[in-house]
Amino acid sequence: MAPIIEVTHLSKHYGRLRAVDDVSFHVEPGEIFGFLGPNGAGKTTTIHALCTLLQPTAGAATVAGYDVATRPHDVRRSIGIIFQDSSLDERLTAYENLNFHGILYHLPRAVRRQRIDEVLQLVDLAPRRHAIVKTFSGGMKRRLEMARGLLHHPKVLFLDEPTLGLDPQSRSHMWEYLRALRAREGITMFLTTHYMDEAEDCDRIAVIDHGKIIALDTPAGLKRQYGGGDRLTLRTEDDAATAEALQQRCRVSVERSEEGLRIALTNGHAGLPEVLAACPSKIVALDLHHPSLDDVFLRLTGRGMRDTDANELDQLRSFRKKWNLRT
Ligand SMILES: Nc1ncnc2c1ncn2[C@@H]1O[C@H](COP(=O)(O)OP(=O)(O)OP(=O)(O)O)[C@@H](O)[C@H]1O
Ligand SMILES: [Mg+2]
Repeated sequence: MAPIIEVTHLSKHYGRLRAVDDVSFHVEPGEIFGFLGPNGAGKTTTIHALCTLLQPTAGAATVAGYDVATRPHDVRRSIGIIFQDSSLDERLTAYENLNFHGILYHLPRAVRRQRIDEVLQLVDLAPRRHAIVKTFSGGMKRRLEMARGLLHHPKVLFLDEPTLGLDPQSRSHMWEYLRALRAREGITMFLTTHYMDEAEDCDRIAVIDHGKIIALDTPAGLKRQYGGGDRLTLRTEDDAATAEALQQRCRVSVERSEEGLRIALTNGHAGLPEVLAACPSKIVALDLHHPSLDDVFLRLTGRGMRDTDANELDQLRSFRKKWNLRT
């Protein structure tokens, strides 16, 4: 099958800043494709270029078979987008927000009614259809934005940090909707996130930093390649003797640290019994660490991307919003 998104040498420059710098990748139909990277890496800029919201400086891209430069209207008809910052009209009701969107997409009145019912059911907002959006919680607003993104039955849904600011329960609900949607409609999803558990749910992930894609693979593939392998931390009654014995008998690399001995297990779990059996001294504490996507980020970008980063970002954004500061 032909890729549903194809990006070739795409760049976007702002003066001397290369927000997106010669990026190439493709997305298969039905994939959940994640774009991950630190703040300012170029994620939103790439999404905006693919959604025809900004003109690339160089390179080309097709979405659903249409060139973003020469067929922008066809691209727009084929996609739904959930923006990083909320774009609902909070003075209108849920129904009015959706209806307005349907009018912009030239959906006939009867089709609009039916689809609005359908998407409101999908995101569990049917009972609140005539409530003013200002009275919605953050999670409800995000769900309404998702409903709006789906109203015109797009082939590709772009989600820019769709769950930012949501509590864990709403986040997990949102993912249930997304998975159900993919199973039902086969929609392709292109998303950015700062949450590691969400990245794990993607079929493939592109890691982007300073406008460049620095790795692209499945979550398991990324961990295998860049995670640094399984790591055993051991504390024994005699760490010095243990370190020497393990280096000689098991030929593993052993590093002494404050937490104890750090042992790199090249063949993961399989190497564990051998190491434990070779221990000459009583084991006091043991911890086995599998590489996480956070380890991958740390190695690739030099920065961690733990959930706390996202939480701090959430707080900063809501503070800025509250005081009407530019983000
Ligand atoms: N309109 C603009 N004019 C000038 N610079 C811009 C503009 N839009 C984005 N940039 C810059 O381009 C770079 C990439 O921004 P972008 O919004 O794509 O990052 P991001 O990966 O989405 O970050 P975040 O995780 O914070 O959302 C940043 O350095 C940003 O300051
Ligand atoms: Mg962004």
